[in-house]
Amino acid sequence: MSNIVVIGAGIVGISSALAVQRKYPHAKVTIVADQFSPNLTSDVAAGFWWPYLVKFHNPDLLNRICRDTFDYISSLVEREDAGAMWQSGHEVSREETEIPFWSPIVREYRRLSPSELADRFPHQEYKSGQFFTTLALEPTIYISYATREFITKGGLIRQGKVKNLNELAGEFDVIINCCGIGARELVGDEEVSPIRGQIIRVRAPRVKHFFCDQDYYCLLNSNCVILGGTHDEGEWDMEVNEETAKRIMDENVKRMPVLKGAEVISHHVGLRPFRTSLRIEKETIRNEKGKETTIIHNYGHGGSGITLFWGCALHVVELLDERSHL
Ligand SMILES: Cc1cc2nc3c(=O)[nH]c(=O)nc-3n(C[C@H](O)[C@H](O)[C@H](O)COP(=O)(O)OP(=O)(O)OC[C@H]3O[C@@H](n4cnc5c(N)ncnc54)[C@H](O)[C@@H]3O)c2cc1C
Ligand SMILES: *[C@@H]1O[C@H](CO)[C@@H](O)[C@H](O)[C@H]1NC(C)=O
Repeated sequence: MSNIVVIGAGIVGISSALAVQRKYPHAKVTIVADQFSPNLTSDVAAGFWWPYLVKFHNPDLLNRICRDTFDYISSLVEREDAGAMWQSGHEVSREETEIPFWSPIVREYRRLSPSELADRFPHQEYKSGQFFTTLALEPTIYISYATREFITKGGLIRQGKVKNLNELAGEFDVIINCCGIGARELVGDEEVSPIRGQIIRVRAPRVKHFFCDQDYYCLLNSNCVILGGTHDEGEWDMEVNEETAKRIMDENVKRMPVLKGAEVISHHVGLRPFRTSLRIEKETIRNEKGKETTIIHNYGHGGSGITLFWGCALHVVELLDERSHL
C-alpha cells in the first residue's frame, strides 16, 4: 500500500487528494498544510469558470483540463452541499477580440452584435462581446464538501509548515505538491509570483447575469455578487485598499446601474499564484540511503484555480499511474 502526502489544503490540494483516493482506495493519503479554508487564496476566489491570468505551455492538455473541470463542476450542480451553480452573462471589450479556445466548452456561447452592445451598455464604448453560460463553484463550500468526502474515505489531515520536501521524503513514497504561491519559498521557484486581486462581496439580489470587461467584473454566487477587481502583478500587499474599493464599486455601478446602493458584505484580498507556465509535472528524488520518492508538482494556477483544479487532479493521477508499484 502506498503512503501519499499532499501539501496544501486549497482547492488544488484537496481535489488532488480526492482524485487519488478515488483511483486508489487502498492508498493512505495525508494532507499537510499550514493554513486551511476559509483563510486561503482559494476562499477569496469568485469561483467563476473562466480561463483568466494563467499560462500553460501545452494547449491540448490545457483544453482537456478545462473541459474536465467544467464537466466535473456541472456534475456537482444537483448536489445542494457542493457549492456549484450555472450562471449566464456578458463579457465585453473595448477592443476587437477573437473567439476564445474555450468557446465550445461553455454553453450557449455567442458573439454580441454592435446593436446588442449599444443596447445593453449604452454608456460604454465596447467593440466586441460574448454571451455564454458557465459555472460557478463557491470554493469555501466546495472545499468543505470535498474535505468531508476525503475524511470519510479515510483521509488524514495534519497542520504544519513544510520547510523542504526532503523532510517528507523519509515518511512518504509520493509527495503531491499543491502549495500555490507557497512554491516560491518551499521549492525556491522564482517563476511563481503573485497577481494581487481585491474584491467586494455585496448583496444584490436583482443581479441575475454576470458581467465582465477588461477592468471590472460582477460575478454571481448563491447569496451575493462579487465585484472586482484588480490584477496587480508582483504585489504582495494583503491589506484592503480603501481607494481601490471605492473605485471598484463606482466603476461597477457605472457599468451596471442596478448595483447602486447595494449593501456591502465584506472586502477581500488574495494573491493569485501566477507562474510563467502552470507546473504539473513529475520528479523523482533519492535520499542518502537510496530511497526514491516521487514528487508531483501541481501549482501556479494564477487566476484560474477554480477553472482548472479537477482536470489537474486527474492529470496528477495519470502521472502517478506511470509508477508501477501502486
Ligand atoms: C480576487 C481573486 C479572485 C479569483 N477568482 C477566481 C475565479 O473566479 N475563478 C478561478 O478559476 N480562479 C479565481 N481565482 C484564482 C484562485 O483563487 C487560485 O488559482 C486558487 O485558489 C489556487 O488554489 P491553490 O489550492 O493552488 O492555492 P491556495 O488556496 O493558496 O492553497 C495553498 C495551500 O498550500 C498550503 N501551503 C503553502 N505552502 C506550504 C508549506 N510550505 N507548508 C505547508 N503548507 C503550505 C497553504 O497553507 C494552503 O493550504 C481568484 C483569485 C483571486 C485572488
Ligand atoms: C482563520 O484565521 C483566523 C484568524 O487568524 C483564525 O482564528 C482561525 O482559526 C483560522 N481558521 C482556520 C480554519 O484555520
